[in-house]
Amino acid sequence: MKVINVGLIGFGTVGSGLAEVLLSQKERMEKRSGLTIRLAKVADIAIAELPPQFSDVELTRDAAGMINDPEIDIIVELIGGIEPAKTFVMQAIEAGKHVVSANKALLSQEGKDIFAAAAAKGVEVGFEASVGGGIPVIKGLREGLVANKILSIMGIMNGTANYILTRMTDEGIAFDEVLKDAQEKGYAEADPTYDIEGIDTAHKLVILMTMAYGMNISLDDITIEGITSIEPVDIEFAREFGCRIKLLAISRNHEEHVEARVHPTMVPENHLLASINGAYNAIHFTGDTVGNVLFYGQGAGKMPTGSAVAADVMDIARDIQAGSVGRVPSLSYLPEHIGPLGITPIEELSCPFYFRISAKDVSGVLAEISGILAEHDISIESVLQKGREEQGPVSIVMRTHTAPEAAVSEAIAKIDALDVVEAPTVTIRILEEENDLE
Ligand code: HSE
Repeated sequence: MKVINVGLIGFGTVGSGLAEVLLSQKERMEKRSGLTIRLAKVADIAIAELPPQFSDVELTRDAAGMINDPEIDIIVELIGGIEPAKTFVMQAIEAGKHVVSANKALLSQEGKDIFAAAAAKGVEVGFEASVGGGIPVIKGLREGLVANKILSIMGIMNGTANYILTRMTDEGIAFDEVLKDAQEKGYAEADPTYDIEGIDTAHKLVILMTMAYGMNISLDDITIEGITSIEPVDIEFAREFGCRIKLLAISRNHEEHVEARVHPTMVPENHLLASINGAYNAIHFTGDTVGNVLFYGQGAGKMPTGSAVAADVMDIARDIQAGSVGRVPSLSYLPEHIGPLGITPIEELSCPFYFRISAKDVSGVLAEISGILAEHDISIESVLQKGREEQGPVSIVMRTHTAPEAAVSEAIAKIDALDVVEAPTVTIRILEEENDLE
C-alpha cells in the first residue's frame, strides 16, 4: 500500500488530536483510500517526548529540518499565530510540500501570500479545520455548493464564546469562570481575547466570504463586536423577550456589495441558531439553487478538530495518488476569478435593537431618553425597568422596532452623554423575523 508521510509541527491540543485520529482510524482510512497515512515526524519545542503509543514517530525540535526532509509529503502546521507559523508554511511550500493548517488567523491575514506561493509551486493547502472545528464546512462550501451563488452566510463560529454564553444562560455561571473552563477544555485560543472579542469569528468569516463570493477581503473590512460587555442581566432580559444571546457572524450578498459583521445578537428562542449550545457551531448558507443548508457540529476541541485535519491530509494524499493535485481550487474560485467586492457600510443596515441604559433612578429620565429616541425616529416596542440598588443606577431596558444603525449610534451617543446616564449603554441587535431560517 502506498504510504504518505506526514510531518506535524505542533503537538498541542489539535496536534495531539490529529496524532490520535491518524492512529485510531488508520485501518478505516486504508480501507477507504488504499493509502497508509503515516505520521512520520513531529516538530515541537515544548515537549520532551511523545506519548508511548507514538513510539514509532520521530520527535524533533528542528521544524525547518523536517520540512526539508525528502521523505515527508505533507506538512501539517498546528502551532497557531502568525509567526513562526507563516515562515514554516512558506518554507514548506518552497520545498514543494503540501500543507495543511488549522490556522484561521494566519490564513485570513496572510492567505494571499500563502495561496499565491502554493499555486506557483503546484502544491495544495488544506484548511478544513480553520472554520467550524470538526464540521466539514470548507469542503461543503467548496464542493457541495459549487453550483450555487451564495446569497448569505450566518452562523455561530466560535466554540468558546458559545460555550460561555450557553453556560451563563443555562447555569447562571459567571463569565470569567466559564472562560477558564473553556480554556481547560482546549476550546480557547492561546490568546482568549480572540474568542471573546469576536476576532476569531471574524477570521473564520474572512475565510468563508473569500470562498463564498470569490472576493478579496481582510479583517479590517469586518465590523466586529465581542461578548465582553454582555452581563447576566442582559441574558435575563433576553429571556424575558423570548430570546437567547449568540455571537453571530453574518454576511448577506447584495450583489454590488456584501455585509460583513460579527456581533452578539438576540436570537428568538424558536430560531434554529438559538438551540446551538456549548462548544457546538452551526454555519448556515443560503444558495440560489439549493436554498438553505445548515452545517452543525463541534466547533472546537482536540478530537473534532483532529478529524478535520485528518480529512484534509486524506484529500491531499488521494490527489497525490491520483496525480490530480490542484483538481479543486483551494479557495473555491480559480485565483484569477478572485477580486475586489464592496462591503456594505454597517450604518446602512437596520434591525430591531435591545438597549440597556444604566441611569440614575430620578424622575424625568425616561422622558429624556425617549425624547432623544423620538428625535431620531426610533420607535420603542417595549420598556422594562428592573431593580433598584441602594443609591446605584437602574437598568432601563428597551426593545425597539426596526431602526437604522446610523440613527441608533447617534441617539446612543446622545443618551450616553446625559448627566443621568452612568455607564455606556449596552446595545444588542435582535434577529428579525424575516431573517429566520426556513
Ligand atoms: N478557539 C476556537 C473556538 C477554536 O473556540 O471556536 C476552534 O477554531
